[in-house]
Amino acid sequence: MLPCVRWLQSLLALLSSTMPTWGQNSCPSRCLCPDPHTVNCSGRELSSLPDPLPLDVRRLVLSDNSITGIPSDFLILYSDLVHLDLRNNLLSRIEPGTLSTSSRLVFLDLSCNNLTEIPPGTFGESRSLIKLRLGNNSLLSKVSEDAFKGLTSLWELELQGNALSCLDVRVLSRLPSLRRVRLEGNPWVCNCSFIKLFTWLSENTLKLPTGMKGIECIISKNENRTDLSRLSKESFQKCRVTPMDYIIVIFSGVAVLVAGIVASFFLATTAHCCQRWSETNKGDNDENDA
Ligand SMILES: *[C@@H]1O[C@H](CO)[C@@H](O)[C@H](O)[C@H]1NC(C)=O
Ligand SMILES: *[C@@H]1O[C@H](CO)[C@@H](O)[C@H](O)[C@H]1NC(C)=O
Ligand SMILES: *[C@@H]1O[C@H](CO)[C@@H](O)[C@H](O)[C@H]1NC(C)=O
Ligand SMILES: *[C@@H]1O[C@H](CO)[C@@H](O)[C@H](O)[C@H]1NC(C)=O
Ligand SMILES: *[C@@H]1O[C@H](CO)[C@@H](O)[C@H](O)[C@H]1NC(C)=O
Repeated sequence: MLPCVRWLQSLLALLSSTMPTWGQNSCPSRCLCPDPHTVNCSGRELSSLPDPLPLDVRRLVLSDNSITGIPSDFLILYSDLVHLDLRNNLLSRIEPGTLSTSSRLVFLDLSCNNLTEIPPGTFGESRSLIKLRLGNNSLLSKVSEDAFKGLTSLWELELQGNALSCLDVRVLSRLPSLRRVRLEGNPWVCNCSFIKLFTWLSENTLKLPTGMKGIECIISKNENRTDLSRLSKESFQKCRVTPMDYIIVIFSGVAVLVAGIVASFFLATTAHCCQRWSETNKGDNDENDA
């Protein structure tokens, strides 16, 4: 019994003494590994992901490089990743399914990249994700209604400094844990499509770091930007149903009614004529018979 325990103890001691060395051995050549679970390759002029990475990496910093893509199985391979910083790279696309339900990722920074669109299901159903940074992607003009579907833990979302002119309110209203959202620095257009988002924002100003104040929109072309805090629901009044719309509805109702009456009158007259005509004919025939 006792030798067995001793043997186990020495094995554990050996393992624990070699573990950090393994971590260091697998540190990519141009990167820093300040602790066994952190790899920092910030600002190393990388154009792709560094190859071999320790499989148990939890914190990966790849900011300020020229990385153009991440393979879609990346987070399946590095399933312990909790923190992934890809800020200031050249990513133009995130393959759908790159993040999956099983991912442990809590923090993802994709700000200052070349993303143009966030298609549906880009982030899978990554239930651990709490912070998502997508700001300063100056070409990002489309965020799908289902872009963030399934991100049930998402607490903080950054979409500032992009090229968004409109956003389906469901992108935000379906995030049950959302506490903070940044939307400033986008060329918003306050037309009738914007009213639902405007209403949501008015009801959720506490989630906006600068309130409605920092968010600007243009009301119509060739006009200067207006701060959202200077608008109210009344600003969108022309989008509501006006008395003129009621008049049009009533008028069409009356027109249909009149058309109905005319049609039935015409039908009744025709039927009556036909009946009269056939009766006369019948009478003539009877006379002829007689
Ligand atoms: C990564 O390394 C850079 C220096 O190359 C340093 O400035 C930065 O603070 C490090 N970041 C982290 C998160 O360790
Ligand atoms: C960014 O994306 C646009 C459009 O997809 C492309 O034309 C441009 O070359 C890209 N820029 C860089 C630096 O990759
Ligand atoms: C985005 O760009 C602005 C102006 O270029 C800069 O002040 C800001 O720090 C950047 N924000 C992020 C999150 O990179
Ligand atoms: C409002 O503006 C956005 C962005 O330019 C556009 O996609 C949308 O069709 C416009 N909606 C209406 C009702 O004009
Ligand atoms: C837009 O702003 C400029 C400069 O701030 C000003 O001269 C101009 O009158 C403004 N135009 C409108 C339509 O408010």
